[in-house]
Amino acid sequence: MADQDKSKDQLIAEVLDLRRKAAALEESLDSTQSDDNQHAYNALKMEAIGRLAGGIAHDFNNILTAIQGNAELLQMDGFDQSERDDMLMQILAASRRATGLTRQLLDFARKGTFQIVAVDTTTIIEQTAALLSHSIDKRIDIKLDIQADPPAILADPSQIENALVNLGMNACDAMPDGGVLTLATRNIVLDDASCVDYPSEVVPGPYVEICVCDTGSGMDSKTRSRIFEPFFTTKDVGQGTGLGLASVYGCIKSHYGNIQVDSHPGRGTTFRLLLHAAETACASSDGAHDQSIMRGTGHVLVVDDEGIVREFLATALQKFGYSVSLCINGAEAVEYFKNSHRDIDLVILDLIMPVLNGPDTFRELKAIDPDVKVLISSGFSRNQSTNGLLDEGALGLLSKPFRISELAHALAKHLS
Ligand SMILES: Nc1ncnc2c1ncn2[C@@H]1O[C@H](COP(=O)(O)OP(=O)(O)OP(=O)(O)O)[C@@H](O)[C@H]1O
Ligand SMILES: [Mg+2]
Repeated sequence: MADQDKSKDQLIAEVLDLRRKAAALEESLDSTQSDDNQHAYNALKMEAIGRLAGGIAHDFNNILTAIQGNAELLQMDGFDQSERDDMLMQILAASRRATGLTRQLLDFARKGTFQIVAVDTTTIIEQTAALLSHSIDKRIDIKLDIQADPPAILADPSQIENALVNLGMNACDAMPDGGVLTLATRNIVLDDASCVDYPSEVVPGPYVEICVCDTGSGMDSKTRSRIFEPFFTTKDVGQGTGLGLASVYGCIKSHYGNIQVDSHPGRGTTFRLLLHAAETACASSDGAHDQSIMRGTGHVLVVDDEGIVREFLATALQKFGYSVSLCINGAEAVEYFKNSHRDIDLVILDLIMPVLNGPDTFRELKAIDPDVKVLISSGFSRNQSTNGLLDEGALGLLSKPFRISELAHALAKHLS
């Protein structure tokens, strides 16, 4: 049976089984380093990854069902404005879930790296609360207790938002009959003495502590000791992949922060994240769409082989006031640019395209006009290829899926 024909439940059960077999083989590898065992282990690992991809595809199909279904409903008559707003929120919530999934996968593949900037924890907490409020049981009350002032941390905003959404979803899952989810922040300064209470990698300095606290089922010590293991889940087959907390843990560790959990059966759970405070002020929030800031003028050439991305960019850029030309691959873009480069103010260039890929297109555009302004748009955050192009003179990187406000700010920055 092809993987795509299997139910997600079956796939997850198979992945778990393969993982158990791989773990057993890994143990035996410690004692016997035979080539046969090594091959069997690698084959199992590859198979597990393949199955995992199948499982993720199923998750995506659910997400796409929500996006497509709500969008189609929006095309119909007979809904009032608040019902339409709800559908829009469902589309945004589903899109965020998909973003979270791809980021987790990219981290898994170690293809994504961080963009560390000053991040406003207040904004991130508010965005997380808004996002959760649309997708959780209405009997769960979300409370904010924001004390951190200054609120800025040094972090990758999307990674932190994903971590908080993961923690928030877990908290909600632990409260099937309702309860209170509290998201709190406060400033903490650690000196040498207080660092003793933390693992050795936590160094003295200013931090912001983010707490995600629920009044749910809580955990016994056995569960608590395993929660950060990849694929560890107590949820029914098909209900959880067990990757949520493993990715939260990875995220916090790569920010040189700390994560602690306090939980007891029947007494709820509190996760405490400790993240380095930022000395610089936060960049302005990208949550609210201030349409006056987004507006600009100029002629933008969009080069992307994905029709849906081209169409979206054309609509958004025209809405901001830019004129737009579209090319479906690098070769077409180079031809177009030869004749029209004097009229083009900026190029948004996809990296992975057939015929002529992004990096080669970039070089050919530069050969025609050494001062060409190019923003790279890529499904990966920074990696070797994007770093190389930034070194060669590309202005910046838009990591897909980017927010409308990120797009507008990037254009305003380079076209004002
Ligand atoms: N707030 C919480 N209250 C009670 N148990 C929790 C809480 N957070 C996590 N857990 C326990 O930790 C386990 C692992 O959590 P994790 O987020 O890694 O995976 P999951 O939620 O089971 O699946 P996924 O997040 O991949 O959908 C959960 O199955 C649950 O048993
Ligand atoms: Mg989870």
